[in-house]
Amino acid sequence: SKHLSRVLFGGIQAMKGQVQYEKRKTKDGCVAILTMDNKPVNALSQGVRVGLDQYFKEVAADSEVKAVVLTGAHGVFCGGADISEFATGVEGPMLGEVIAAMEASEKPVVAAIDGVALGGGYEVALGCHYRLASQRAQAGLPEVNLGILPGAGGTQRLPRLVGAAKSVDVMCRGAPLKAPKAAEVGLFDRVIEGDHAALIQASVDFALSMPPVAERRLGRGTADAADAALAAKRQEYAKLRPGEAAPQAIITCIEAAVKQEFKDGMRVEFQEFCKLMTGAQAQALQYMFFAERQCQKVPGLDAKPRALQSCGILGAGLMGGGIAMCCAENGLKVVLLDVDQKNLERGMSVIKKNYARSVERKSKSQAQVETILSKIHPCSNYEALSECDIVVEAVFENMDLKKKLFAQLDAVCKPGCVLASNTSGLDIDQIASATQRPEDVIGCHFFSPANVMKLLENVRGPRTGGETIATAMAFGKKLKKVTCLVGNCGGFIANRVMGVSGAAKVLQEGVWPQDIDAAAEAYGMRMGPLRMWDLVGLDLFGREREKSGVLNPEQVVFDAMYKAQRFGQKSGKGFYQYDQQRRHQRDPSAEALIQQVWSNTGVQPKTMPQEEIIENLYLPVVNEGFKCLEEGMAIRASDIDVCCVFGYNWPRYRGGPMKWAFTVGLPTVLQKVEQMGLTPSELLKEAVAKKWKMNSKDFNARILSAWTA
Ligand code: CAA
Repeated sequence: SKHLSRVLFGGIQAMKGQVQYEKRKTKDGCVAILTMDNKPVNALSQGVRVGLDQYFKEVAADSEVKAVVLTGAHGVFCGGADISEFATGVEGPMLGEVIAAMEASEKPVVAAIDGVALGGGYEVALGCHYRLASQRAQAGLPEVNLGILPGAGGTQRLPRLVGAAKSVDVMCRGAPLKAPKAAEVGLFDRVIEGDHAALIQASVDFALSMPPVAERRLGRGTADAADAALAAKRQEYAKLRPGEAAPQAIITCIEAAVKQEFKDGMRVEFQEFCKLMTGAQAQALQYMFFAERQCQKVPGLDAKPRALQSCGILGAGLMGGGIAMCCAENGLKVVLLDVDQKNLERGMSVIKKNYARSVERKSKSQAQVETILSKIHPCSNYEALSECDIVVEAVFENMDLKKKLFAQLDAVCKPGCVLASNTSGLDIDQIASATQRPEDVIGCHFFSPANVMKLLENVRGPRTGGETIATAMAFGKKLKKVTCLVGNCGGFIANRVMGVSGAAKVLQEGVWPQDIDAAAEAYGMRMGPLRMWDLVGLDLFGREREKSGVLNPEQVVFDAMYKAQRFGQKSGKGFYQYDQQRRHQRDPSAEALIQQVWSNTGVQPKTMPQEEIIENLYLPVVNEGFKCLEEGMAIRASDIDVCCVFGYNWPRYRGGPMKWAFTVGLPTVLQKVEQMGLTPSELLKEAVAKKWKMNSKDFNARILSAWTA
C-alpha cells in the first residue's frame, strides 16, 4: 500500500534493514511471503522490526491472504537482535511487541528457516506457529554469551514448546544446534530436503494446509521440571559457567515459565533482562563479541591470501602434534615431519590416543577420526615438504637450531610457501635471515594444547610480506582460531603482558599462595597464578635465573622454591602438594619454607583484601599492555584483551585487562601503577593527559600510527 511504502522508505536512510513482501497466489490460496533483509545476517535492526510490524498489520487486513511464510535473505534466517544497537539504545517497535503481534495472527504463520536462526532470530521463529527448516539450518539462543537472556519471550515460549529441562540446556549452553539435533530437541517441526526454493515451496504448501489459529497456546508451562531438577541445573551451570550472572537469571525465567501464566512469566523475563543488560558483564561480553571479530582484520592490508590446502609441520612433539590435529580436523592435508624416527612414532601414537579418547567420550565418531587420521602423513624426509602451502616449525626453542631448519626449508619448499615458526618468543627477523625469502617468513604462535586453545598470534617480522600476512590470517580462520596479528617482541602479546603479573611481588609482601590464588579465581581466572606456576613448572623460572644470574628482590620466594626442587606438578610438589590425579592441596612444608623466607627478609605474613590482590596482580599487566601499544606491537587495545581471554582464559565476562583498565579509569590506573613503583607507559600517561576513552578516534589513531611506523 502507499501508506506502507511511505513508512518503510521514509525511514530507510535512518533505519537499517528492511522486509521484502511478496504475495504468492497458488491453486490452494494466497500466501504472504515476508523476507527479512539486512546484510549480512538479517540482524533485527529497527528497519526490520518496522517492516515486520507493518506487514503483519497489512496481512491481517488483507482477506485474500490465507497464511504467512516468514524467511530471511542472504542464505540466513536471522542472526538475532542488532548487537550494535545495544550500545546506542533501541528504538521502537520493540522486538517483543512485534513477535506478540505475529503470534496473535489468526492466519497460520510458518517460519522457513534456512541458515542460522539465532537469538532474537530464533525468538521470531518461536513467535511463528510452525518452524520448517532446511538441512543446513541451525537454531540457538546464544544470548548467554553476550551476558543477557532471550528477552523477547524466548525464555517463556521455549519451555512451553520443548519443556523446561531442554530449554535450560539450549539457553545456558548457548551453542547453536544443527538441523537434525534441533529437530530432535523440538526447535524445528520438520526438516525439508533441497534448496531454499524447495524450503519456501514446502512452507507455502504447509501453511495453506493448516487451519486458522484458534487461540494462542500460552497458558502455564509444562511441569516437566520439578524444583529439585531446576536446582540441580543451577548447580550444573554454576560450575560450567562460574561467576556468570546470565545462566542463573535464565533459570529464574524458566522457573517462572513452569509455574506462572505467560504474562507473569514475561514480566519476570523483562525484569531479569533489564538487570543483566545494564550490568558490567553484559557490557564486557558484548565488547568481546566485536573485539574478537575486529582482531582478525588488518588495516591497510590489501594483499590476497595464497591457496591453502596442505600444511607441513616440523617436529612431532606436543606442540607439533597439536597443530597437526588442528590442521587435519579442519580439512588440511598434513605432512608431519620429524627426523627422529622415535619422536615421530611417539608423536603419532599420542595423536591416535587423543582421538581414541574422543571416540570413547563420543565427541567424535570412529569414521570422523579415520578421516582426520587419513589426512596426517608422518615422514622423516624434508623432501616431503616440497609441495606444502605452509610449513610450521615446532621444534624446541633454540635459535641456532631454528636457523638451520629454516635454511633447509628454504632449500626444499616451493616458491610462495609460507614459512612459519611456532616460536613463543624468539626473534622472527633473525630466523628469517637464515633464508633467501624473508618476505615469506612469519611467526604462527599457537598456545598449548594447540588443538584446544583458541588463540593464534601471527607475528609479523620487519620483512614479512603482505601476502604472507594475509595467508597466515586465512590459515588461522581455516583452523577456526581467533587470530591476531602482533609485532615481533619478546613474548609477543599474551605471554609478554601476562608474564609481568605481580604474583611474585604479592607473595613477597607476605600474602599466602592460597589467598592469592583464591582472589584470582574469584575474579574468574581458571587457575590462580601460583597454581599456574606449579603447572608450568618452576624449573623454567630456575633455568632463566641460572642463565641470567639476576634475582629480582620480589622473586626470593620463587628462588627458594626452585632451590628446594619444588618444581610444581611435575615433581609432585610446588606451592601446593599434588596427588596422583594432580589435585592440589595446601602443603605444610611449602608453607614452612615460605614462612622461613619471609622471616629471613623481615616480612610479616598478612591478609590483603581480594580487590587489592587483583590490582597488584593485574595492573602491571595493564601497564605492559599500554607499552605494547606504544611500541607498535598490537593494532588495537582490544586485541590485547582478545589475546588474554583466548590465550590465558582471562574471564571473558570481564572483557580483558585493557577493558578493565578503562572501567577502573585510567587516572586511577596510572596513579596506582606509580604507587607500585612501576615505570608507567608513556602512552598511558598521554591517554590520561588527553582524557582518551577506549576506542575513541584519537586513541585508535595514535595506536595505529605506532603500528604503521
Ligand atoms: N548484530 C549485529 N551484527 C552482527 C550480528 C548481530 N546479531 N551477528 C553478526 N553480526 C556482524 C558481525 O559483527 C560481522 O560484522 P563485520 O563483518 O563488520 O565484522 C558480520 O555480521 C558477520 O559475522 P561473522 O563474522 O560472525 O560471520 P559468520 O558467518 O562467521 O557467523 C553468525 C554468523 C553465526 C550469525 C555469527 O555472527 C553470530 O553468532 N552472531 C551473533 C548471534 C547472536 O548472538 N545473536 C543474539 C543476539 S542478542 C539477541 O537477539 C537478544 C534478544 O533476544 C533481544
